[in-house]
Amino acid sequence: MKLKVCVIGGAGYIGSHAVYELIRDGHEVVVIDNLSTGSRNMIHKDAKFYYGDITNKQDLKNIFNIECSVKPFDVIMHFAAKLIVPESVDKPLEYYYNNVEGVRIMLEVMTDFNIKNVVFSSTAAVYGEPVNSVCSETDITCPINPYGETKLASEKLIKWVCKKYNMNYCIFRYFNVAGADKSLEIGLNKDNLTHIVPITVQTALGIRKSMDVYGNDYDTSDGTCIRDYIHVSDLADAHVLGAKYLVENNKSLLVNLGSNKGYSVLEIIKEVEKHYPVNYKITDRRKGDPAKLIASNEKAKEILGWSPKRDLSEIINSDIEYRKKIMNKS
Ligand SMILES: NC(=O)c1ccc[n+]([C@@H]2O[C@H](COP(=O)([O-])OP(=O)(O)OC[C@H]3O[C@@H](n4cnc5c(N)ncnc54)[C@H](O)[C@@H]3O)[C@@H](O)[C@H]2O)c1
Repeated sequence: MKLKVCVIGGAGYIGSHAVYELIRDGHEVVVIDNLSTGSRNMIHKDAKFYYGDITNKQDLKNIFNIECSVKPFDVIMHFAAKLIVPESVDKPLEYYYNNVEGVRIMLEVMTDFNIKNVVFSSTAAVYGEPVNSVCSETDITCPINPYGETKLASEKLIKWVCKKYNMNYCIFRYFNVAGADKSLEIGLNKDNLTHIVPITVQTALGIRKSMDVYGNDYDTSDGTCIRDYIHVSDLADAHVLGAKYLVENNKSLLVNLGSNKGYSVLEIIKEVEKHYPVNYKITDRRKGDPAKLIASNEKAKEILGWSPKRDLSEIINSDIEYRKKIMNKS
């Protein structure tokens, strides 16, 4: 089945990987992005690109008018969010506008053009403080920052609109995402990285002098926090499966994308140290970091037949190789 998929936010980290996997699986891809945090050179050469802002209804209408007059989109994928937690605390109005109003406008245009299927990127941040160390989709949602609130509000909006207009949603809640595409053409390339894997790799490669490990007195085997890490290409694969599921089954779903497995911060450092030494120091705990957060992937396995194929060594290797490549280019 060849689908026509519109990827909004397809010039960003995760969206660009979804575009690569969609194209590898033989689908037609149209990317819409305002390039606020994404970049033109992250977009696959076989995807069609439109510069546009999801909060501007006219932008979307113009693009949908051109594209849907040829062939309507089968599925819309939404990655176009702002996602830096401290920034969301500083700029809640901006975050609600971009993340929630953007989704509202996208849904309005989908109903105008009678497009039935949407895949939405959500986040573990909708759960807030974890109640269980292995998080499942039935856990209580109680975000503790504006970013998480905007994603939960978007999820709810999507559910209500899909119910009213007989549309289908596939909502994916991600945990810790890392790694780079096997082509090494795309990866996580941003200033002010906040994720542990690229920070550790940057330290190993000498881009940073040292890194902090926030606390080693947690109730875990080595005292450092445990998290669930997923290769970005495994997430991208799930998006392809999710898009096909919506079209084939005409049903909605909401699933966590995790590995059922966790690694501590020191285990991440050790994995990177198989390649290069890492200079780190133990500092105080950060406020609000739970000791352990792992995602159950039973539901994703059962409904989509999805589970991660790439392990931690592949996540780390691909990030190292990608970072070396972009270092050599600059
Ligand atoms: N990166 C993670 O670890 C992570 C974890 C959980 C959930 N998510 C979710 O995944 C999605 C993608 O995250 P990412 O890491 O790829 O972020 P990213 O910043 O790399 O990508 C977002 C893309 O959307 C575009 N965009 C933003 N606002 C837009 C607008 N108004 N109109 C058009 N384009 C717009 C940006 O230019 C960028 O290309 C987000 O929805 C985020 O909430 C990410």
